[in-house]
Amino acid sequence: MSVPLRVPTSASRQPEIVRELRAFTWNGRATKRAVTSVGLAKSRPIVVETFVNEFWTSKQRAAHSLHEVSYRACFKPQLPRFFIDRFTAPGDVVYDPFMGRGTTVIEAALAGRTPAGCDINPLSAMLAQPRLSPPAAEEVQRRLSAIDLSFAVSYPRELEVFYHPDTLREICALREYLLARDSSGTLDGIDRWIRMVAVNRLTGHSPGFFSVYTLPPNQATTIESQARINARRKQVPPRRNVRDLIAAKTRSLLTHCDAATRAALLRSANRATLMTRPASSTPQLKANSVSLVVTSPPFLDVVNYAGNNWLRGWFCGIDTAAVEISMHRKVEEWQAAMTRVFRELARVLRPGGHVAFEVGEVRNGKVKLEEAVLPCGVASGLHPLLVVINAQQFTKTANCWGVRNNSKGTNTNRIVVFRKG
Ligand SMILES: C[S@@+](CC[C@H](N)C(=O)[O-])C[C@H]1O[C@@H](n2cnc3c(N)ncnc32)[C@H](O)[C@@H]1O
Repeated sequence: MSVPLRVPTSASRQPEIVRELRAFTWNGRATKRAVTSVGLAKSRPIVVETFVNEFWTSKQRAAHSLHEVSYRACFKPQLPRFFIDRFTAPGDVVYDPFMGRGTTVIEAALAGRTPAGCDINPLSAMLAQPRLSPPAAEEVQRRLSAIDLSFAVSYPRELEVFYHPDTLREICALREYLLARDSSGTLDGIDRWIRMVAVNRLTGHSPGFFSVYTLPPNQATTIESQARINARRKQVPPRRNVRDLIAAKTRSLLTHCDAATRAALLRSANRATLMTRPASSTPQLKANSVSLVVTSPPFLDVVNYAGNNWLRGWFCGIDTAAVEISMHRKVEEWQAAMTRVFRELARVLRPGGHVAFEVGEVRNGKVKLEEAVLPCGVASGLHPLLVVINAQQFTKTANCWGVRNNSKGTNTNRIVVFRKG
């Protein structure tokens, strides 16, 4: 429950971030303060100070072009940057146990921190790793010219609902080239980059994608739904040039990659740890090694990551149905799973390290996951520090407590911050 109350804390004992958030103003708007309070059956309630303001916006500082790949339920780079700037120094390890497209790890690397990431879906490392060591646009162009896209052994005809037959042949030829290089151990950094870009061009709603008009690129629809979209829009898939679209997206991703960026990335990439496994078990990370965790887990069963990524999985040779992505209908099951992850985070965090855990409102605001997550961190021995609610574009109907995601022009991120004592 969030209520607008004051927390009586002596000024000398307040962490710096608390003082900063209390004093923060955005466009003259003071930070609103409340407490989030969670009653527990067998102990005293958990009570943390809660701050609401527009602490970061997408316009505040243009994000680096390397982030511009789509992924369902990704957060903006400004979110991890807010915590990286406040809780870490250059060289420190910044970790995301639910890495997704890799927003935290890329932002950490750009800030000269040591990135670490984990995701149960192999697709995640395929999206993140190439952007830690981006090749030059000319190298990509040369490699694209050298790959024979005129012939493929397999040709899944059912995908013609998305693609012109000649485009589909090129996609299949590229897929077979990449899979063959991978299985022979000859896949290099340029191939990995091409795979990452191709994955991001597979489907979308503009001529910049391989497909005819379809859902946004982070959500592949089913073959049956696409057939219905085509019939409704009276459309047939137009011819797209796979090489040209990959080269164009490469140039766009590399827009901000100057020599200084490449040097910073190189230093960070050499120290990076990217894992494909459950976030609850990460033996590759040493105990007491991580300074900051910035992450966003699956929100119960709200997003169907397997369904949204089926076509990407096909292209990359991933059996998406076999990946055990956490999906929980009941809050208690989700809390049990998150508590297992928090125990692991408590192990890898260094004393004094922080966790910034982003969650959302689900079930039309009936479930506030920031309240559900507080007991998970506490049960793992972490100290609950505060809740940050970043609310963009307030409207008359959206007051600061219980601002709904993506409704009435509002967009909120709710971040529960813990510290290892
Ligand atoms: C909300 S998304 C993270 C998005 C990320 N913050 C970004 O900006 O791209 C949640 C991620 O958790 C991953 N995931 C689901 N269950 C997992 C588990 N048990 N262990 C690790 N990762 C998991 C999903 O594959 C998905 O990529």
